Amino acid sequence: MTLKINFKNNTSKKTSTNLVLFVNENFKTDSLKKYISMSELNYISDLLKVSDLNKNLFVFELSSKKKIILVSIKKNLKNSEIENLGAELYGRIIYEKNSKYLVNSDSIIGNYENFIGFFLHGLKLKSYEFKKYITSKKKKEIILNVIGNKNKPSKSNQLRFSALEKGTFYTRDLVSEPGNVLHPDEYAKRLNSLKKDGLKINIYDDKKLKKLGMNALLGVGQGSIRGSYLVTIEWKGLKNNSKPLAFVGKGVCFDTGGYSLKPAKFMEDMTYDMAGSATVVGLMKNLALRNAKINAVGVVGLVENMVSGNAQRPGDIVKSYSGKTIEILNTDAEGRLVLADAITFTEKKFQPKFIVDLATLTGAIIVSLGSEYAGLFSNNDKLSKQLVDAGQKVNEKLWRMPLHKNYDKLINSKNADMQNINYVGGAGSTTAAQFLQRFILNKTPWAHLDIAGMAFSKYGGALNSGGATGYGVRLLNQLIEDYYE
Ligand code: BES
Ligand code: MN
Ligand code: ZN
Repeated sequence: MTLKINFKNNTSKKTSTNLVLFVNENFKTDSLKKYISMSELNYISDLLKVSDLNKNLFVFELSSKKKIILVSIKKNLKNSEIENLGAELYGRIIYEKNSKYLVNSDSIIGNYENFIGFFLHGLKLKSYEFKKYITSKKKKEIILNVIGNKNKPSKSNQLRFSALEKGTFYTRDLVSEPGNVLHPDEYAKRLNSLKKDGLKINIYDDKKLKKLGMNALLGVGQGSIRGSYLVTIEWKGLKNNSKPLAFVGKGVCFDTGGYSLKPAKFMEDMTYDMAGSATVVGLMKNLALRNAKINAVGVVGLVENMVSGNAQRPGDIVKSYSGKTIEILNTDAEGRLVLADAITFTEKKFQPKFIVDLATLTGAIIVSLGSEYAGLFSNNDKLSKQLVDAGQKVNEKLWRMPLHKNYDKLINSKNADMQNINYVGGAGSTTAAQFLQRFILNKTPWAHLDIAGMAFSKYGGALNSGGATGYGVRLLNQLIEDYYE
């Protein structure tokens, strides 16, 4: 499926092509007189009289060549609701044969600053699909010609939306790639190519990581024939050297569990265990594309958690980059080991304003929150509130979960400074977060987003049609726009 959206200059007049028109919350059709003929208006009005109006849109088939789709604009729509409306329209027209439409922005009702911008943004996000490995491609094209003078997005708004879409799609592409294609070597190579967008890329390979003492990260990847990497992605949007915002991501390209092997049923999904890192990458790309006026850095740890004669064993003890030692009781609790070194490194090297890390860290967060909210853990109330509010705005929701010293105690070990899982006390998502918190050494404001339930959607959601969601890119972009730019 290809989607083409054109902004045409013709003003609205009656035409013989497919139309998308907007009406008020009650599907009142008076406002449509200007755009459709009297007989069309009567036909539609009659059908509406006998229809359940508790819907967002109706499709009227006037002839084999002409459809009219009415989209109802309910009162006081939030921007995210306008996005959903656009997505819903897309969900409808992909099933229609005739796929060229005139979208009339003059018919938009109400005082919205940028209705068409949000509407098309939602529509485009919904239209994403990953069909790279399907060889029998059906060619279908949807063309939307947007006419009318009202509510056309401004140039700067168009740039903003398109950067967000490209960033989100880049994230989705990375998450969708299978483990045999996007292994750590390939991933690092792809990140290197982001230099063309104006991002500064630094790749630390096994040799450099060994020198730095990142043994927690290296231990996870040591059973793989691929390398392990830490990659930094810097965006300097300010002339000054003010402290950057830092985003850290878990990039486990495939998680077999290691010797604490996952059962087959739980292993097959583990190609998306690098989604946290992909979100960071998509966010950084978006910032560069829209020339964001901030300094920011993304840091991702790229490894593959495999089984081999050289893989890490349960019971192994490693010394992390922070100097703290960790007893690996379960090789399947590997994400926190990768993040531990990445977080300490980020704090030390960049002294950021804050660190937000993202990870598909625990199955337990799916038990708690399903795929409605990501889990938020933080040492800072202000940052937490900003994140929750930004998430609300773009409908990528966060629910704050507790941290407490009594949970922290559960990961003390007899044999090392800590162990990587707790055997008693439950609260698996919180103890994982407590583990991460131990690697913030200088009280930097920090938030951890456990996105295990959000990064991938089997059945699709409002703004995605199933598969990788790109969750977090728009959330963090909103955080930056609203509070830091
Ligand atoms: N990558 C998984 C978490 C996960 C599970 C992500 C399901 C997405 C969907 C993580 O590395 C893991 O295996 N966590 C373990 C931790 C346990 C061993 C303490 C888990 O959640 O079972
Ligand atoms: Mn695991
Ligand atoms: Zn994992």
